Amino acid sequence: MGRQVPAQKRRRRDRAAASVAPPAIARPLLKWYARAKRDLPWRGSADPYRVWVSEIMLQQTQVERVREYFVRFVERFPTVHELAAAREHDVLRRWEGLGYYRRARQLHAAARRLVADHDGEFPRTVAGLMALPGIGRYTAGAIASIAFDVSAPIVEANSRRVFARLVGHDRPLGGTAGDEPIWEVAERLVPRRGAGRFNQAVMDLGAMICTPDRPLCSRCPLADVCVAHRTGRTAAIPAAAPRRTATIVRETAVVMWRGGRVLIERRGAGEWWEGLWDFPREPHAARSRGSRLGMVSYTVTHHKVTCTVVARAAAAGAGSAAQRWVTPRQLAALPLSSPGRRIAKLVVSSGSP
Ligand code: ADE
Repeated sequence: MGRQVPAQKRRRRDRAAASVAPPAIARPLLKWYARAKRDLPWRGSADPYRVWVSEIMLQQTQVERVREYFVRFVERFPTVHELAAAREHDVLRRWEGLGYYRRARQLHAAARRLVADHDGEFPRTVAGLMALPGIGRYTAGAIASIAFDVSAPIVEANSRRVFARLVGHDRPLGGTAGDEPIWEVAERLVPRRGAGRFNQAVMDLGAMICTPDRPLCSRCPLADVCVAHRTGRTAAIPAAAPRRTATIVRETAVVMWRGGRVLIERRGAGEWWEGLWDFPREPHAARSRGSRLGMVSYTVTHHKVTCTVVARAAAAGAGSAAQRWVTPRQLAALPLSSPGRRIAKLVVSSGSP
């Protein structure tokens, strides 16, 4: 008996999902999109390079933040050839502040692969795109549909919520297993032609109307067919995922001085801010040697870090292969981690001890 209830529920849910027919979605949605779509700097061109750069930036970053970074990035690297020819250092410098630097390194690696193996041409299929570094199912679907009009679905933060509400899917989302039913809905609804426009319309609807809190259902072109709206469950869908609690970390950053220069080190593989420069860290101690410059607090992947910054004269023999002595002026041109950049500001304003 106990097993029958979920099965019944599932059948009911599947029936609800099946009742949302593709044309009843696409037509009103595209009409709304034509009128309300966001004016974004990567739209209006189907250049796969621009679509790709924008989608990589949008993977973990809000649209408003991506705007200015995208414009500056494609100004500096207007084509895949220029990006492939650039030094990683310059690519990271343009990415600095956007976070998740692995994306920038993979973008650069993919540009080099495209130029070396594909004459700088992008693959036109989802599978071909997914073979490149940094391109998963969602990004491949976005590039294929927007740049090449391939009928490929996409599921990302906004469209995931729209589709879940549309069909009344009330299970927790996220992860491969949690999102699979949503991919199936997206697959069924994406039109044969004009998939790029459809996908962008779904994302815009999620960002502007079908928002996480207090969705604007009275202005939604899909309200009539939306299962969550019709059954009064927009607040309950998507179901909340279990929250991870943050780990509290205390540490000390050491600004080591030697002859007017400070010691910096490059973050290694698997470390936060891999490939970027930062100041050496020590475990926090109640009394650190050196003079205190200030505090920097930051949050990184479920860690809340409070970092005390101290300046100290170098002990003899300090420095290793991954470290460099630089003048405070040189810090400006180097790709630094975001706490590293804030510490550099403290260094510049306090001067050498
Ligand atoms: N989020 C991710 N990709 C997007 C796009 N192409 N348009 C709007 N929002 C997005």
